[in-house]
Amino acid sequence: MPVSFNSKYVEKFLEKDALTNIQNEVTRADKMLREKTGEGNDFLGWVTLPEDYDKEEFEQIKKSAEKIRKDSEVLVVVGIGGSYLGARAVIEFIKSQNYNLKRNGAPEIYFAGNTISSDSLTDLLEIIGDRDFSVNIISKSGTTTEPAVAFRVLRELLVNKYGKAEAAKRIYATTDKAKGTLKNLSDIEGYQTFVVPDDVGGRYSVLTAVGLLPIAVAGIDIDALMKGAYDAMENLNDSNIENNDCYKYAAVRNLLYRSGKKIEMMVSYEPSYTMMNEWFKQLFGESEGKDGKGIFPASAIFSTDLHSMGQYIQEGERHLFETVVVFNKSRTELLIKEEAENFDGLNFLKGKSLSYVNRKAFEGTVLAHTDGNVPNVILEVEKADEYNLGYLIYFLEKACAVSGYILGVNPFNQPGVEAYKKNMFALLGKPGYEAQKEELEARLNQA
Ligand code: PA5
Repeated sequence: MPVSFNSKYVEKFLEKDALTNIQNEVTRADKMLREKTGEGNDFLGWVTLPEDYDKEEFEQIKKSAEKIRKDSEVLVVVGIGGSYLGARAVIEFIKSQNYNLKRNGAPEIYFAGNTISSDSLTDLLEIIGDRDFSVNIISKSGTTTEPAVAFRVLRELLVNKYGKAEAAKRIYATTDKAKGTLKNLSDIEGYQTFVVPDDVGGRYSVLTAVGLLPIAVAGIDIDALMKGAYDAMENLNDSNIENNDCYKYAAVRNLLYRSGKKIEMMVSYEPSYTMMNEWFKQLFGESEGKDGKGIFPASAIFSTDLHSMGQYIQEGERHLFETVVVFNKSRTELLIKEEAENFDGLNFLKGKSLSYVNRKAFEGTVLAHTDGNVPNVILEVEKADEYNLGYLIYFLEKACAVSGYILGVNPFNQPGVEAYKKNMFALLGKPGYEAQKEELEARLNQA
């Protein structure tokens, strides 16, 4: 299997028969997903997406990506949360964290509209300079403040540079198929549009046009990515935990949670996995963190963070478990050479590859952390390529849905995200929020 669950370093933390005993709950969660009887069942489009995605749109994504690669030195992807994390995660993992420095003729890709920082957007405008650029604005609702503000600024820049008609040819809008401010504007201005399917929530949308257009612009093989997801969809279909590593992972994280392990650290030994960690944090955090429940998703890159977080993980409060994503084959093999003087005392590593040393760091860490009572779930991935990443993405999406149903929450809504928005709108004086404004300002001004 491209992704497999290694339970060797978690078993001693589980009660005898725990997995057998939780099987009924897993079967129930699987049934809710399969028969669409669980809460949030109108957001299950991602389940069969690797098979029934819009093939015509998929070809249009490739064509638009080709056009952007030809006519743009820079692509700005404007979106927040599920509307940017997946694309950035895939690009940085498959290409490089330094993609913009070594992109081999493809456009530089920047992500905007995921913050309201003036400095950040000003910085980006400077980076674009007078170079040719295009914008992919991504917003399912079409009304999210962060991307809307950034898009207003970037749209003006495009219109000033190219004129209205040519600017319209450089704007690609990924949004609802029929409704919303962005869809309306796109129809009026004639932007190329792509669809965020109604039944796919933001955090589950990386394998729709939301993720695929920027990913294709980076020169990544989106056919292989979808094939990996398709094979995962086919393979991860058995409700029996013993035959389904995805469900085993979902079950084990719930068992650990019930035993007091309230924080899951997603760990990788590859820095290029950093944004995959961020994607994972949104997927699981937004899906499970509600009704006063949910594992808190955290992340680390080792061995880097062993020199900052390692102390806490080894000896701090015992409320953690780790999920380590291990890639069995690294892309490159850098060998350590022998030196006559051996000043640094490293000759004992002569002829060894860096990935061998990295593997030993992992093995040493997993033993130390489990000795320190931190359960370690290991997800082994065959290779760091598009196919295996597509498989892993689907594996994690399905594990998240099943885990959420086992936990007893609706894994497909995010009511809590609205609270800050309402306050911000009121404080900014948005029409319709007048009543709240006064009350919030009084609270802020209280001594
Ligand atoms: O997962 C989610 O639903 C959110 O993170 C959204 O993706 C995010 O808020 C952006 O929303 P929209 O695409 O409507 O602008």
